[in-house]
Amino acid sequence: MNPTGPVGDVLVLFGVTGDLAKKMILPALYRLVERGELTVPVVGVALTDWDVEQLRAHVADSVHAAFDNTGDHGDRADSGSGDDVDDDVLKRLQGLMQLVAGDYADPATFQRLAAEVATQGGAEAFAVYYLAVPPSLFATVADGLAAVGLNDRARLVVEKPFGHDLDSARALNAMLRKNYADDRIFRVDHYLGKEPVEDLLVLRFANTLLEPLWTRTWIDHVEITMAESFDVADRGSFYDSVGTVRDVVQNHLLQVLAYLGMEAPSSDSAADQRDAKFQLLKAVRAVDPADVVRGQYTGYRDVKGVAPDSTTETYVALTLHIDNWRWSGVPVHIVAGKALPASVLDIVVTLRRPPRALFAGPTDSPAPPNRIRLRLQPDAGVAFILLAKQPGGADVVTEVPIAVDFREVLGPVHAPYERIFVDALVGDPAHFAPMDNLEEAWRIVAPILDPGTEPLPYEPGTWGPTPPA
Ligand code: BG6
Repeated sequence: MNPTGPVGDVLVLFGVTGDLAKKMILPALYRLVERGELTVPVVGVALTDWDVEQLRAHVADSVHAAFDNTGDHGDRADSGSGDDVDDDVLKRLQGLMQLVAGDYADPATFQRLAAEVATQGGAEAFAVYYLAVPPSLFATVADGLAAVGLNDRARLVVEKPFGHDLDSARALNAMLRKNYADDRIFRVDHYLGKEPVEDLLVLRFANTLLEPLWTRTWIDHVEITMAESFDVADRGSFYDSVGTVRDVVQNHLLQVLAYLGMEAPSSDSAADQRDAKFQLLKAVRAVDPADVVRGQYTGYRDVKGVAPDSTTETYVALTLHIDNWRWSGVPVHIVAGKALPASVLDIVVTLRRPPRALFAGPTDSPAPPNRIRLRLQPDAGVAFILLAKQPGGADVVTEVPIAVDFREVLGPVHAPYERIFVDALVGDPAHFAPMDNLEEAWRIVAPILDPGTEPLPYEPGTWGPTPPA
């Protein structure tokens, strides 16, 4: 932990009645209360006719829905110490909750909020304001806080998407910077709160085993696959204005790439990590549209909120090139999409073949190259795919994985929103997206945003169109 700012006395949650709060945030807060990491008052804000008791009932429903329902997707299932909800913990969380109901465009809402923050935390309270609201409301909320002087003792935590492209991200940032210092703005990318993503750093820099291999000398190519077996469901109108590149590539997958490819930071401080990731992203060439295949699953245009002639992609396959000493000439292939056959986030690093092929693979095929598979979800772990001699007379080799499942060995991980809230409260920026990283990421994907071309159709439950050669 590297806190760089005051610890929050109060947590204020804008959008407390929304979907993100229900599915991710309230269950995460429950876990934090369970572990004694959340003890400060939580003030929910929303345009609602609920009173605080109704909010507390909603908290209970959300927590039960999350933990009685642990499916195969997401980190909730990995999250904790069993799936039974402990009534005492739930009561403690409910007891921390307060509500300020009102319109974000109404100055009176912020006056009431200022009074509530002072009541809960004292006149000098330092508050953490979490904006789980649509991006169109970021400015309204940030300005509303500033209008009643709440910005002085504040940390602003802003959900994604941060901008729609490079210019709008810069404009949003400039607007927030009017009233908030840069180190008081935490930009959420929940992938940075995922323990298996952070584990990439540990795997690379706590060990020396990989480092000699981790260059163009030994690596042939890298594949990053983020497949989701579910479709856009009830998020049609959000998704249609975004598409796969903005939804998961610009943010989540480029941050994963940064961890995978960056040089060792000189310390584990947030600033040194940010700089190391920035240097890597700076070296990534803007995507060439010729290196991209876009797809859209059949039936997507019938989803509520989706335009009947939408050209938004629900699948993308693209190739990135990193123009630096370590990675020059090593293509990075990214595939991401919805309604695919499985939910999986995998990195496969394929090594170069030996300079001379002394052995054949099974059925006389050439022996396959070594691969290192870093699985981030589900079942985070690592596998080294080595070659061994096939028992029998001939010199034939076959693949044998040397694999470890981290959960089996190390136990369950915490969910990303647990990490995000703890860090937001103590003021540790390491697991948030710095502005310079975000700008580079927007630059990289800029040539492929809104191409206006027809994506290739694919059937739900298939692996999508063929990726670029
Ligand atoms: C979100 C995207 O940011 O990340 C979703 O908006 C996507 O479309 C989700 O499904 C994936 O997150 P996770 O944690 O389930 O891998």
